[in-house]
Formats: sequence, C-alpha cells, structure tokens
Amino acid sequence: MTTWLITGGAGYIGAHVVRALRESGRSVVVLDDLSTGHADRIPDDVPLAQVSVLDTPSVRDALREYAVDGVVHLAAKKAVGESVEQPLHYYRENVTGVISLLEAMRDEGVHNLVYSSSAAVYGEPPWSPIREETPCAPLSPYGETKLVGEWMIRAAASAQRLSWVALRYFNVAGAGAPELRDTSVNNLIPMVYAALERGVAPQVFGSDYPTPDGSCIRDYIHVSDLADAHVAAAAYCEANDAQDVFNVGTGEGASVWEVMAAVSEAVGHDIGAVAVARRTGDPPELVASADRIAGVLGWQARRDLAEMVSSARLD
Ligand code: UD1
Repeated sequence: MTTWLITGGAGYIGAHVVRALRESGRSVVVLDDLSTGHADRIPDDVPLAQVSVLDTPSVRDALREYAVDGVVHLAAKKAVGESVEQPLHYYRENVTGVISLLEAMRDEGVHNLVYSSSAAVYGEPPWSPIREETPCAPLSPYGETKLVGEWMIRAAASAQRLSWVALRYFNVAGAGAPELRDTSVNNLIPMVYAALERGVAPQVFGSDYPTPDGSCIRDYIHVSDLADAHVAAAAYCEANDAQDVFNVGTGEGASVWEVMAAVSEAVGHDIGAVAVARRTGDPPELVASADRIAGVLGWQARRDLAEMVSSARLD
C-alpha cells in the first residue's frame, strides 16, 4: 500500500480527493494550514499536518514522518478576481508553494506528484474544444501562477527523479456528500443557490455572447469525477515515469441558461433567473477536449449536470 500526502486536503476539492484515494486502497495524510479549509472535512482517522506548504522544513517533516510515496498538490489560492487585486500574494502562495514542495520532495526522495492546474492556463483560445496542445496564454495572475507551476515541475523533473501529472480542471461543481460542499460563493452554481437563499433572482452575466442562447458556455465537471481523475493520475504516476498534462472536463459544454434550467429542475420550480450585463473578462466558450485523459488514463466523467446541481443544493 502506498501513502499519499494531499496538500489542501481540507478544502472543497481536497476533501473529495482524500476520500477517493482512500477508497482506492491507498493510505492518505493531509497537509493544510486551514486558512480556507475546514478540519471537519477530514475523516477522523486521517492524520493532519496543520502547516503551510510554504514552510519547507515542516513539509519535509511530514513527508518523512508518514513515509510518503506521492503528493497531490492542491494547496493554493484560486480566485481569479482576487488574483488581479493581489498578484504578488498569488505568486507567493502558488509559485513559492510549488518551489517549497519540490524542494521538500527532492530532499526526502519523494518521486510521485499530481499537480492541480487549471483551464485558466489557456486564457481565451479562439477554438473549442480545447486540447492540451492549445497554446497557453493565461489572462489572470491566477492562471499565470498555475502555468508557472507546471513549468517548474517539468524543469524539476529532469533534475530530480519525478513522475508527475498536471490536471487542468475545467469548471468544478457539485458535492459527493452534503458536508463536503463548496462553502465559498465564488462560482456560478453556489452563487445561484446563495441568491435563492436570499430570495433574490439569480443573474445570467451577459446574454449577447456568440453562443446559441447568448450566454457563456463552460465545461462543468462533478467534483467526485474530478477526484476519481486524481486516483487515476496517482496510479499512473506510480506505474510509469510520467510527465503528462491532462484536461479534466466532460468534453460537453453547458450554457449559463442551461445551468439555470437544471437548478430549476433540481428545486422543482422556475428560479426566475434574469439576464444582466456581461461580467468583464468572461470568454464566451471554454470546453475541454477530454480525449487525452480518456486515452492515457482510461478516465472519463460519469456524472451529469443534473447530478452536479442537485448535489450542490443547500437544503
Ligand atoms: C472558473 C474559475 C476559475 C477556473 C475556471 C476553470 C473562479 C472565479 N473562476 O471560471 O478559477 O480556472 O473556472 O475553467 O473561481 N455566471 C453568471 N452568473 C453568476 C455567476 C457566474 O452568469 O452569478 C457565469 C459567468 O459569467 C461564467 C459562468 O457563469 O460564464 C461560470 O462562471 P464561474 O463559475 O465564475 O467560473 P469561470 O469564470 O468560468
């Protein structure tokens, strides 16, 4: 049995990855400073090292104490808008965080790494679906830090023995269990439920995009499917000398109006969404090509939009 350290394991995505890796028969340990994560998301019998990934000696200690074989690195800042306001904070947390982790892994001889990257590395490519070869042109400091992270891992891999996979997540949604829900209200589906809770109409940002119904199209991926992709990536790192980048999406787009319709279906009444002005910086369409991950890792999404929106419900 191998042991994996999950940085950011107390976060929304991390908590799902912890469960999925355990169910795959691996032993898991969480490293999280609890700045945004919640300790009660971590199962009681999973050890928690409550330290920052920037604290290299403490990361080293955790790798050694638990005889870690591989790391899933999720601990990072992830809000696009905030990254524009606080770019240096994002560079410190996300870029220095990867440096710190890679140094600790090198010093402790840990060779397997699954890295949490993002579709934000692509920026606004002129064609869809987006393949991994699509040139990266991030439009926010957040996207830049994720791309720099990939570069650093690739560079470190040739200097220290590393078997690594970077997963570029598209729009993550839903929950595997009510207590694991995304409690931050940054993304469309949590924002819709928050609006309904307050008794106000959910808003569709922009209805004049060059798409069939005029609203933006995204590739929503269920967080439990995403967690399963991490298990497939971890197994691939263990069995190969991996150096791979994969999109994680369904390969299918859904418009904002389609998401609103799915929420109406989930709550059993028309939620009365209204069209408002565009939000600055939103590309019309971002849909993954999920062919590479299906071909190499044998992973594909199993859960649909209805399951994402119903599992994200607040009541
Ligand atoms: C999100 C993430 C980004 C990640 C990317 C991956 C945030 C803020 N953004 O971007 O980190 O890299 O996915 O693809 O975490 N919308 C509405 N009404 C609302 C809220 C959103 O119409 O109340 C629309 C937006 O205009 C957008 C779509 O819903 O078209 C999705 O928005 P959002 O959930 O914020 O995600 P992205 O901006 O796509």
